[in-house]
Amino acid sequence: MRGEQWISDSLNELRSADLQRTLVAYPQAGGRIRIDGWDYLNFSSNDYLDLSRNPELISRSSDELHSLGTSATASRLMAGSLDVHGELESRLSEWKGYECALLFGSGYLANIGLITSLVGREDSLFVDKLAHASIIDGARLSRASVHRFRHNDASHLKQSLERAAGRGRQLIVTESVFSMDGDIAPLKDLTTVAADHGALIMIDEAHASGVFGPNGAGLIKELCLADTVNLSMATLGKALAGYGGLVACSKAMRDLIVNRARPFIFTTALPPAAIGSAMAALDVLLRTPSLGRDLLENAAFFRSALHQAGLDTGPSQSQIVPIMLHDNRLALDLAAALREQGIIANAIREPAVPSGTARLRLSVTLAHTKEDLATTADVIAGTVGKLRS
Ligand SMILES: Cc1ncc(COP(=O)(O)O)c(C=O)c1O
Repeated sequence: MRGEQWISDSLNELRSADLQRTLVAYPQAGGRIRIDGWDYLNFSSNDYLDLSRNPELISRSSDELHSLGTSATASRLMAGSLDVHGELESRLSEWKGYECALLFGSGYLANIGLITSLVGREDSLFVDKLAHASIIDGARLSRASVHRFRHNDASHLKQSLERAAGRGRQLIVTESVFSMDGDIAPLKDLTTVAADHGALIMIDEAHASGVFGPNGAGLIKELCLADTVNLSMATLGKALAGYGGLVACSKAMRDLIVNRARPFIFTTALPPAAIGSAMAALDVLLRTPSLGRDLLENAAFFRSALHQAGLDTGPSQSQIVPIMLHDNRLALDLAAALREQGIIANAIREPAVPSGTARLRLSVTLAHTKEDLATTADVIAGTVGKLRS
């Protein structure tokens, strides 16, 4: 098409660096799926607790759909705030151990909305070097001066805060479980540094929620840090097997966000079906506190099988298990070869991870048995061996 030559040039550039992404459609989602009559183990799904086809979630979601309709039909500040939004927020705040909670359209929107509500041009943001793209995008949009501290390094954060002292409000943002490495932030140290410097701190618990902490409430609750972490952000789209984002915080903070967060204000409220599945997911978590523990035990088993097979799982301490390959081509070839053998796992390359750290990223879910995990470790090791030889 006229005027679009630059687009093919850009795509060619991406292709020649093995960095082009393409959409692949799957007939189903979840940790174990069927494609063209074949069973696949899917390690690219965030359905950590295997709840996406749980009859209770489906039935509750369908109840809300039938009773309230397909859409909230308006933004929250117009006529889109339904009773069920408030009910879910109140249950989420209790679960997370905070005074209040607020729903967003997604975790991505939550991160952008929260950061841009709290800091602006005059302020300073302190963001972990490996923070998720949604945090980085929020940081950029806020126009605050951004200081990236070394990954999980509380003393480097302290130095950065000291260097920027006196320049407006200070907000620290990091994740509790990192999305690409599966490692865990030193939350106690980070919150101590925040408190010592009078800085606000926000923790993204997208991957910890549903998995870590009592009834899957996350690491903030596990470590009793709700009094010191100002904003506890999470998603409904991973372990809770639904869609939406959330923040748990104080009432004053919630009131401010409702007034300031553009990705909250200028968008349609979550539909009733999404609220229903989140309610049922919470019921399951509260009734079955062992789910997260079981998942983490299986993930530890998987890591040890991979180590025995000579593979490097980086710093993973969670259900997210990377296999470090450091080569874009090898990561892509491995993902393709595994797919032929019934295993789905994504090759992760820059910009999702730093250049030179290409990897295969596997998410263990409760749909995977220990036997599946042992077999997968063997298949991966054999395939890496063949590709490297
Ligand atoms: C750490 C982290 N934060 C936020 C998000 C965004 O959440 P959502 O998928 O609900 O937009 C993700 C999802 O990939 C994530 O990994």
